[in-house]
Amino acid sequence: AQLVLPQRTAAPPVVFHYVPIIGSAISYGMDPYKFFFDNREKYGDVFTFKLLGRNITVALGPKGSNLVFNGRLQQVSAEEAYTHLTTPVFGKEVVYDVPNAVLMEQKKLVKTGLSVDNFRVYVGQITDEVNNFNSTDPAFAPFQKNVPKATGTVDIFKAMCEITILTASRTLQGKEVRDALDKTFADLYHDLDMGFNPINFVIPNLPLPSNFRRDRAQKKMSNFYQEIIQKRRQGKTDADESEHDMIASLMQQTYKNGRPLRDVEIAHIMIALLMAGQHTSSATLSWGMLRLASRPEIIEELYAEQVKVFGDSDGTLRPLDYDTQKVSLPLMDCVVRETLRMHPPIHSIMRKVLSDIPVPPTLAAPGTVNTEKSADSTYVIPAGHYVMAAPGVSQMDTKVWRDADKFDPKRWFDKDNVANTSEDKDEDVDYGWGAIKSGGNSPYLPFGAGRHRCIGEQFAYLQLGTILSYFVRRYSWTLETTFPGPDYTSMIVLPQQPANIVLTERK
Ligand code: HEM
Repeated sequence: AQLVLPQRTAAPPVVFHYVPIIGSAISYGMDPYKFFFDNREKYGDVFTFKLLGRNITVALGPKGSNLVFNGRLQQVSAEEAYTHLTTPVFGKEVVYDVPNAVLMEQKKLVKTGLSVDNFRVYVGQITDEVNNFNSTDPAFAPFQKNVPKATGTVDIFKAMCEITILTASRTLQGKEVRDALDKTFADLYHDLDMGFNPINFVIPNLPLPSNFRRDRAQKKMSNFYQEIIQKRRQGKTDADESEHDMIASLMQQTYKNGRPLRDVEIAHIMIALLMAGQHTSSATLSWGMLRLASRPEIIEELYAEQVKVFGDSDGTLRPLDYDTQKVSLPLMDCVVRETLRMHPPIHSIMRKVLSDIPVPPTLAAPGTVNTEKSADSTYVIPAGHYVMAAPGVSQMDTKVWRDADKFDPKRWFDKDNVANTSEDKDEDVDYGWGAIKSGGNSPYLPFGAGRHRCIGEQFAYLQLGTILSYFVRRYSWTLETTFPGPDYTSMIVLPQQPANIVLTERK
């Protein structure tokens, strides 16, 4: 006889809270990871919490991530979750202001611009910008006096924010944006960025002064980009410098139906890319520099790797180049990978639930807690909820990783590493515009998975690898005090202030 298990279709358990509307806003907001881990202990991998009147259902572990990232279009919507936060910042007609099929096409067009040919040019441009910055910024003054073995203290997050925007604008954004950065563009960026704030996710359309400034900055920045495009069309540009940037690439491309992108679409895609890449990369760079500062012996191993790969017989190091860097710096690669394991910049990823989602009984994945509890129950996440993935939880799970809280880049050389042996096949899935890497069922997903997966991964690796290599070649460094804790008050996990490192120049 067949064993028939009772079908349970209850909503997931709700996290206990005292105040009805506020719900768990405080405990989630103060330390989302502690909140996730504590509640996973009590409720299993799937539970709901109240956040200022909303129902948010968290789905943890690789299978939870998969449920959120690879949910059907009829079931989950990113645009419904994000548009009121992002559209006022990016502008209309792009990303979450358009139907998903259009976003998929826009991502494909951007991906075309992120080509190996362009990356080859970017390595030199990035090195040049970092070098210029370090030779002129007051933070690096001790190194500008040509004192042998000079040392100095640097506020690492501040420096990395500057370096990230300088290098991203020199490469992806193009000459005009890079030149304007020294003038008005930096202020516009600042005002726009202030609109990229969790409060605007939680309570949309608040009449805050910062939102008025955001809206004004968005208009100005949109016009600024559209003027660049018009000038380029009229041939008023320095073609040499701009032919490898994203504006140039988007100006040459068309949608599937043959329609070229409108100027306003290109402008707003460029703003979206600026925002998507800035905080993620600057946070990762800062955490990477800080983690290395806590393990100076790894900095020396990275230096040895540079010498091995780029060293000349006279003791000098040849310039970095994309093709060599991509395949011949395995330790650097692992350092970035490990930094993203411990410090994925995005701690919570959301979708709005459009129609009920049955939670498969197998959701509690091996290696996560409460397998028994979830094994015999099938929850249904009701339409109207939000679902939330938090890949950072399984990335730091002591049940998944040996010494999960240890910064150990070399774990990535281990062929038994769970992320290499997980069920994640990283399959190519066709979402309507050609195959993309999907993945989803992995304990390691700092770039997400499925249709909304990051397209900036290769660029990020290039940018981070080039900048870290620059620092490794020129300096060694240590922490000034203790390792800083995480600050969760913005959309991105940043190091708490102060986060200073002490640099010493090599020669
Ligand atoms: C999407 C992480 C850098 C552009 C995403 C997502 C994650 C992520 C987790 C998925 C969001 C979701 O599912 O809701 C990161 C990390 C970065 C990084 C960790 C660096 C360390 C960049 C850069 C760019 C970029 C440099 C642009 C050049 C995008 C775009 C999407 C995306 C266009 C797609 C959004 C969507 O389809 O809804 N990123 N990102 N990212 N990222 Fe990145």
